[in-house]
Amino acid sequence: MASELETREWKTVKIERKGDGITFLYMNRPEKRNAMNPTMCFEMCDILDLLTDDKETRVIVLTGAGEAWTAGMDLREFFRELDGNPAGRRKAAAANKEWAFTKLRMNPKPTIAMVNGYCFGGGFSKLIACDIAIAADDSIFGLSEINWGIFPAGGLARVLDDAMSLRDAMYYSMTGEPFDGKKASEMRLITMSVPRDQLIAKTLEVAKVLSAKNPVVLSAAKIAHKTARRMDYWEADEYTMAKSIAMVAQDPEKGRNEGMKQFLDEKRYRPGLGNYIREDKK
Ligand code: ACO
Repeated sequence: MASELETREWKTVKIERKGDGITFLYMNRPEKRNAMNPTMCFEMCDILDLLTDDKETRVIVLTGAGEAWTAGMDLREFFRELDGNPAGRRKAAAANKEWAFTKLRMNPKPTIAMVNGYCFGGGFSKLIACDIAIAADDSIFGLSEINWGIFPAGGLARVLDDAMSLRDAMYYSMTGEPFDGKKASEMRLITMSVPRDQLIAKTLEVAKVLSAKNPVVLSAAKIAHKTARRMDYWEADEYTMAKSIAMVAQDPEKGRNEGMKQFLDEKRYRPGLGNYIREDKK
C-alpha cells in the first residue's frame, strides 16, 4: 500500500526513490530558487517524520529542484508577510528550527546534502545539519544576510561554528561575499565538491556505502558523535560508553559479535578494509 509519502499532495517538497534504500528529498520551488517559505518548513517537518519511519528509506539525500539548492529563507513569505503577525512568525520560526536542528540534524538515518546550485543564508543551517555534504564545484554559497540588512541569526551564528572556522565565518558573515563549491570544500564547510556532471553519481556512491551498513550502528554513531561534541572529555566518555552498550543491546543483527566472528574465527574479511558481510541481514 502506498504511504502518505506518495499519496499526500505536497506543495513545496517531493521525494524520489533511487533504489538501494536511497531517497532523494527535494526542496521543490524551483521557480523561486527553492526559497524556504513557511509552508516548506511545515512540510519538511512532516515529510522528515514520514521518512524516518519509512522502511524503504535507509539514506536521505536533501537536494534542490531545478538550478538551486536553496536561495535561503523566503524574503517575502517568511519575513515581509509575517511582519505584524507574531503568531504566524512564531509558528514559522519554530518549524524552521525544528526541521533543521531536530528532524534533519538528529535524524536517526544518515543524511547527505547534495548541493546542486545556490545555497544562501538560512540554507546553511540545513547544509550543516546533514551528516555529509557533497556539492557541484560551481555551486554558489553565500551568507548574504548582510547584503539586505540583517545578519545570520535564528541559530545560524551558532550553527556556523560547527562547520566553519572562526576566521571564515567572520569573513563571509561580514562581507556577504559568495564562494563556490571548490572553496566550500577547501574550507571544510562541505565534505567534498565534484564536477557538476559527477554530482549525482558521487552522491549515490557515498549513499550506497551508508545504505549497506548496519542501520542501528550507523544511527548510534552519528547521534553519539553529534551529542558528545559539546561535552567535556569525562562526560563524553561516560555518555558514549553507555550509548554503545545500549546500541549493542538494541541491534537485532548483533553486528559487533558478527563482525568479530567473521574476522577472528572465520577469517572472512578485514575490518580495516571494509564492512563485515551482511548479505543475509538486510
Ligand atoms: N526569497 C524570496 N524570493 C526569492 C528568493 C528569496 N530568498 N530568492 C529568489 N527568489 C525569487 C525571486 O524573487 C524571483 O521571483 P519572481 O520570479 O516572482 O520575480 C525568483 O525567485 C527567481 O529569482 P531571480 O533572482 O530572478 O533568479 P536568479 O537565478 O537570477 O538569481 C539568486 C538567483 C542569486 C538566488 C537570487 O534570486 C538571490 O539573490 N536570491 C536571494 C538570496 C539570498 O540572499 N538569500 C538569503 C535570504 S536571508 C536568509 O536566508 C536568513
